[in-house]
Amino acid sequence: PRPGWSVDADVVVIGSGVAGLTVALRCAAAGAKVTVVTKALLDDGSTRWAQGGIAAALGEGDTPAQHLDDTLVAGAGLCSEEAVHALVTEGPDAVRRLIATGARFDTDAETGEILLTREGGHHRRRIAHAGGDATGAEISRALVEAVRDAGIETIEHALVLDLLKDADGRAAGVSLHVMGEGQHDGVGAVRARAVVLATGGMGQVFSATTNPAVSTGDGVALALRAGAEVSDLEFVQFHPTVLWLGPDVEGQQPLVSEAVRGEGAHLVDADGHRFMVGAHELAELAPRDIVAKGITRRMQELGAEHMYLDARHFGARMWEQRFPTILAACRAHGIDPVTEPIPVAPAAHYASGGVRTDLQGRTTVPGLYACGEVACTGVHGANRLASNSLLEGLVFAERIAADAFPGLTAEPARPPVAAADAPASVLIAPEQRIAIQRVMTHGAGVLRSRQSLEAAAAELARIRAEADGKSAEPGTEAWEATNLLLVSQVLVASALRREETRGCHWREDHPERDDAAWRRHLLVTLRPDRT
Ligand code: SIN
Repeated sequence: PRPGWSVDADVVVIGSGVAGLTVALRCAAAGAKVTVVTKALLDDGSTRWAQGGIAAALGEGDTPAQHLDDTLVAGAGLCSEEAVHALVTEGPDAVRRLIATGARFDTDAETGEILLTREGGHHRRRIAHAGGDATGAEISRALVEAVRDAGIETIEHALVLDLLKDADGRAAGVSLHVMGEGQHDGVGAVRARAVVLATGGMGQVFSATTNPAVSTGDGVALALRAGAEVSDLEFVQFHPTVLWLGPDVEGQQPLVSEAVRGEGAHLVDADGHRFMVGAHELAELAPRDIVAKGITRRMQELGAEHMYLDARHFGARMWEQRFPTILAACRAHGIDPVTEPIPVAPAAHYASGGVRTDLQGRTTVPGLYACGEVACTGVHGANRLASNSLLEGLVFAERIAADAFPGLTAEPARPPVAAADAPASVLIAPEQRIAIQRVMTHGAGVLRSRQSLEAAAAELARIRAEADGKSAEPGTEAWEATNLLLVSQVLVASALRREETRGCHWREDHPERDDAAWRRHLLVTLRPDRT
């Protein structure tokens, strides 16, 4: 669609989680005119839902080198050591700057030191938290407030559609669809000399996920249509302990943070047997992929739909003080963790892959940056270490701001001449969203095989072919369904190609890790006619 209105900025940031708002604040502080565009409200993305916390070597005796080691082990051979080095060495100061921006972390009442907890894959207490288990909500509050105080322009209820480019193929802004209210309405554009994608993840490609409804892979889909390189989409992380609410419950599900295990909760089956003990030296605190696999295996062995997380021994006081959010979510669903074990099962949680970037957050399209979950900077490899994602958003946001804004001042603005190479030509009907989610959960979930993936690919192709005959009416839900289908198709194609089991990619027909053939990344760039 043709933009009916436009706004000019130096930098346009798409998304308003920790990554987007940090880029916006740092660019604005350097003097840039920044516009933040977000699909719902400023605090509606994934950041707000983060519970456990933010990992950084802040504790006595801990070092960035130890944090690096744990990150590389979790990443199963596919992390970029340079990127991880940047993450862990710049992380502690980035957290301190976040505190200076206004975020309040839990501290020891006597010493004033930041309290640190443990999570899966960490050999030390390294996770700073806020409000007990409401870390993301506090970070979001502080950043939203700082963005408002800084007077940064924000456009809410705006779904990004496609990248605009100048005559040289450089990013020159984005087209968007704004729903109702405010100054803007309908399809418009923000013209800018740098575009930062900070759109978060794509958990909504699966039926059960910890991600909010807005996580529909919009940034990855836009990048693919714009000809940018995308990598590692097959590495979808399933969080091991998500509150199990029944076999047919779909959409966002309540998370039960790893920090609950970090503080000593046990994973048990219906007979009370601790099945992770003996399965890994860290038992319940093994890296996330190993715990998710352990739970799934035990469920298969017993024909059970879920396992249990037992933390009755915490007692009411600790539950209330340390995990108030989780306690309230469980009680809202009729489960009291003080007196009974919590039913849990794995659910889609985090996209370790995304739009490929270098260490400055630059994608393969000049002027287009990616930051946070939408990006693939190389820090997560085949499986993200718990609580490294908020940190990645912070550290790489600062790197992007340092790169994007000084670079811009030297260059004259150029008018956009065209939308992306291959704007979405066919829109998928909104009601296909549930069909896509079911196909993906069945064929490309925790357990995958050639057979399941081929069946998923065929079903997705059928949904696409149906739309070829009858494109849906334009609208947010149709664009979201279109993005979900595109990222699902690329995810399935990548998962089919990777014939091994590594990190969070688990192929039943190729159960071993195969370093000789597969210690490498799958890079995807779409041909313009493939969207
Ligand atoms: C959690 O609190 O378990 C989530 C932490 C994360 O995903 O990094």
